[in-house]
Amino acid sequence: MQAVANQPLIERYRRFLPVSERTPVITLKEGSTPLIRARRLEHRLEEEAGVRLEVHLKVEGANPTGSFKDRGMTMALSKAVEEGTEGVICASTGNTSASAAAYAAKAGVPCFVVIPDGNIAMGKLAQAVMHGARVLAIRGNFDRALEMVVRISERIGMTLVNSLNPYRIDGQKSAAWEIADDLGDAPDYHFIPVGNAGNITAYWAGYRIYREAGLSRSLPKMMGFQAAGAAPIVEGAPVADPKTIATAIKIGNPASWKKAVAARDESGGVIEKVTDDEILEAYRLLAALEGVFCEPASAASVAGLLKLSRARRLAAGARLACTLTGHGLKDPERAITFAGEPVRLEADFDAVLKEVARP
Ligand code: F0G
Repeated sequence: MQAVANQPLIERYRRFLPVSERTPVITLKEGSTPLIRARRLEHRLEEEAGVRLEVHLKVEGANPTGSFKDRGMTMALSKAVEEGTEGVICASTGNTSASAAAYAAKAGVPCFVVIPDGNIAMGKLAQAVMHGARVLAIRGNFDRALEMVVRISERIGMTLVNSLNPYRIDGQKSAAWEIADDLGDAPDYHFIPVGNAGNITAYWAGYRIYREAGLSRSLPKMMGFQAAGAAPIVEGAPVADPKTIATAIKIGNPASWKKAVAARDESGGVIEKVTDDEILEAYRLLAALEGVFCEPASAASVAGLLKLSRARRLAAGARLACTLTGHGLKDPERAITFAGEPVRLEADFDAVLKEVARP
């Protein structure tokens, strides 16, 4: 393990990234996020299924804008500026737009984002507008927004910063490298939410690069999870009208579909679906048992873990990593709706004491 606190991702992993002396490093000090051992969750899983697992949480909400997108965006903006971009554009379910807006602000280039109106968490929208992006909210879903920005970037030569941009994937590989650095090897299984399918693609590429470089010995099985109402890869066909409370992964036609399937098949893993109820259960357990507040889409990885553990489909003693892709504070409304309002009282000492002293 290297001492890396406060080091930009591009510096930490420079030798694995397509950057040169001429690349201006646009950074907010992303990456080097915590990998946390989930001991209380492990106990819960063992009580339920009688199988002991070693579970590590990769807390990507600890990135500068609160999601894993910053890993890709530091690369995308650095390369865009190197190549003399006039502006960047993306479609987004929220986190990509927040990250693009922040890194574009840092770089001093214009940023345009196209989002599905009414379908992104308030925190993410707040970020995009505060960082000065031009935010265009369409009456249509993410898939439609992505089609449009791809065409616009081709027509007017603006830099596309969705994960179709290969530099995004390059930067996101770094999360796999960090996990292997922290554990001394790749885990046996890697659990991850799947939306547009860029991240599962990036992790799988990252793990392979590390093994080829002799920095890890093994490769994980890639375990991807889509929301049940937005599970095109699982169903084997695009979903015209995806539905899930996990708005970040409400995607019906993922851009990196084929690469995600390749990651699954080459690694001997799975891509399966979890229901909104299963996602919300994992969301609550992570917050209540582990002190880690992630957004609902992020909890799809742990929902998948709960499901497979209960079905006794994981080998006893296996070591696994779960990516928690974004911070819970992105979507406080969801948390309050789900977990409930506080107990409201008069400002009266005895009334408060009575509540505190309750068994
Ligand atoms: N989790 C969160 C919190 C996300 O924001 C996303 C994707 C994913 C998981 C899925 O990752 O697309 O690489 O499979 N969010 C994109 C966005 C689509 O626009 O912010 P993926």
